[in-house]
Amino acid sequence: MAPVNVTVTGAAGQIGYALLFRIASGHLLGPDTQVSLRLLEIPQAVKAAEGTAMELDDCAFPLLSGIEITDDPKKAFDGVNVALLVGARPRTKGMERGDLLEANGGIFKPQGEAINAGAASDVRVLVVGNPANTNALIAAAHAPDVPRERFTAMTRLDHNRALSQLASKVGCSITDIKKMTIWGNHSATQYPDLFNAEVNGQSAAAVVNDEAWLADTYIPTVAKRGAAIIEARGASSAASAANAALNHIHDWVNGTAEGDWTSMAIPSDGSYGVPEGLISSFPVTCSGGEYSIVQGLEINEFSRARIDASVAELVEERDAVQALGLI
Ligand code: NAD
Ligand code: LMR
Repeated sequence: MAPVNVTVTGAAGQIGYALLFRIASGHLLGPDTQVSLRLLEIPQAVKAAEGTAMELDDCAFPLLSGIEITDDPKKAFDGVNVALLVGARPRTKGMERGDLLEANGGIFKPQGEAINAGAASDVRVLVVGNPANTNALIAAAHAPDVPRERFTAMTRLDHNRALSQLASKVGCSITDIKKMTIWGNHSATQYPDLFNAEVNGQSAAAVVNDEAWLADTYIPTVAKRGAAIIEARGASSAASAANAALNHIHDWVNGTAEGDWTSMAIPSDGSYGVPEGLISSFPVTCSGGEYSIVQGLEINEFSRARIDASVAELVEERDAVQALGLI
């Protein structure tokens, strides 16, 4: 079988460094799938990406069939099957929100165009670079020939954080928890839902039985974990973000476990009152290489208000990039 072409943007960055070795050792697509890596970087970082490629060579990974390094999106995405869009423009001092969206538009617009021009017909795109949901919206808008549903953004790190915080509160193992959902944006407004999650088959909210802890401790701890890591490490999460990116693509391609689901930010089809087209996080099951939104969940008043708040933020971001002519 031909190797799967995997493109990683921002390959010389810290997530790139945590990601590439695990892709090459089979953690993205499984132990039987050969991968060919394309590393996209800006010209100033191509040399650093070359250094990473030298180290990849030195691992002699049996599954790694080739590595190409480029600063040209057209070359990077030609024939791509899995595109991991990690490189983004971080917010720096004095930068307004509009400046950040505009700077990222300058990255995700040409990348969307290059995916449109050259990607393989089965391409799957995961946007990790922040603001991830809206960057995915920009890329998708510039790839009109690629089915919309192939553009996704990452909330799997939030999902994993939500599992870990819950396990530590109730003293259970991660595998005792099923049906966790992150709703909305990958931002501080995201909503980790314990009303539909289960601990050993029982409602997680009922097991916790402490709405004040849920509202005042659990939700903010999960939602602001990224900021807490930046504060502690002096840099944003890297290994855990890379791990979540592997989980996201692995489940999309290979399927979610029976009786469970995961969280992915995907183009809304209008489910749960989320405006169609917004890239928002939902509970999804994956099977046969496709995801579908879990339907029919009960959304109580507590959840409704929080989902609506996060979706309102996504609408604002969409309107801002629309006003800038980026979508
Ligand atoms: P980093 O600064 O270490 O690396 C980013 C890399 O992207 C740099 O090497 C840079 O040269 C490269 N880059 C910039 N513009 C590019 C372009 N146009 N094409 C190709 N490469 C380009 O950052 P990092 O720690 O690796 O984080 C990357 C992004 O991921 C950030 O936006 C960060 O906020 C985001 N992030 C998202 C999540 C999530 O859960 N969605 C979690 C952690 C980090
Ligand atoms: C995270 O959730 O760890 C990151 O998105 C934080 C950031 O701003 O890079």
